[in-house]
Amino acid sequence: METKLQELKDEALKVIEAAGSPEEIEAVRVRFLGKKGELTQILRGMGGLSPEERPRIGQLVNQAREEVESRLAARFSRLEMARMQQRFEAERIDITLPGRRRRAGTRHPFSIVLDEIVEIFAGLGFSVAEGPEVELDYYNFEAMNMPREHSAREAWDSLYITPEILLRTHTSPVQARVMETMRPRVPIKIIVPGRVYRRDALDATHSPVFNQIEGLVVDKGITFGDLKGTLEAFVHALYGPDQKVRFRPSYFPFTEPSAEMDVSCFACGGAGCRICKGSGWIEILGCGSVHPNVLRMSGYDPEEVTGFAFGMGLERIAMRRYDIDDIRLFYENDLRFLEQFRVEGR
Ligand code: FA5
Ligand code: MG
Repeated sequence: METKLQELKDEALKVIEAAGSPEEIEAVRVRFLGKKGELTQILRGMGGLSPEERPRIGQLVNQAREEVESRLAARFSRLEMARMQQRFEAERIDITLPGRRRRAGTRHPFSIVLDEIVEIFAGLGFSVAEGPEVELDYYNFEAMNMPREHSAREAWDSLYITPEILLRTHTSPVQARVMETMRPRVPIKIIVPGRVYRRDALDATHSPVFNQIEGLVVDKGITFGDLKGTLEAFVHALYGPDQKVRFRPSYFPFTEPSAEMDVSCFACGGAGCRICKGSGWIEILGCGSVHPNVLRMSGYDPEEVTGFAFGMGLERIAMRRYDIDDIRLFYENDLRFLEQFRVEGR
């Protein structure tokens, strides 16, 4: 019995050393220590031993079991390690290899300039409002002091959807929408960026779809001087203190008095060229004191409050900002153009 046990143990240890994989170890465990394993069988056969022999042989069998078990465990973990090592080798990533750079897009110059504009006006106490691009004739024209058949409507070549609904020709209708709903009634101090639509022909400074930024201030005691001061502060913040501007008297049905503001031409710098039609100036916005009729139609008493408004062309402002001499560049999505607006770190 003892010899048999010794042989069995030696055999087991030999086979364990010879095992080449965790699966083989498991097979060895079953062979010797499983329910019907060879060592297990010996324990079972102990019934036939004399009572004197039993404890001694029992101890020997248990010792043999323990030894085999611990060798199994040790060999198993070594084989597992080796397998893992092998996998790590196989799946090794060369982290010294330079990565493939993902090409990030750039922000459109409109977004960049609009952010700058919003920030400047936010610094002057303005907040941002919005309105619909598909607009009622009422807000686009009537509430802006242009009743039906008013000749000034012709200044905007409009795109109508039904007789009552059109694509807004300017952002001014948002003036009325805000005035109608503002509570408390004053102060109002907003800018309104948005797309507008006109049947204009495309050329270097005109597009049939373009962006405006409306401004509206309504409060007690607002004057035309406040308007000039605000716009000059804006222009100097955006273009620097040396930027020359000029105000020209003009006409809008919704402001009185009205003016237009020009900056020196971004193509020739003021000398006069084809783009500015020789004048050296380019118009960037229309403005004026809010017309009493406009205030009245939106529920204000023009004896009590006054206001100013302006509407500027984002394209023209971006052109001056980056010295771009053709508006069409903004819409063509030519990467050679757009990539010039790559900002550090993007
Ligand atoms: C207006 O649209 C008025 N609503 C502006 C206004 C608002 C006046 C509030 C008074 C008070 P105008 O049509 O001039 O005005 O357009 C305003 C600005 O939009 C122009 O100065 C110009 O910068 C820009 N603009 C006009 N038409 C085009 C166009 N086709 N393409 C690009 N920019 C344009
Ligand atoms: Mg104009």
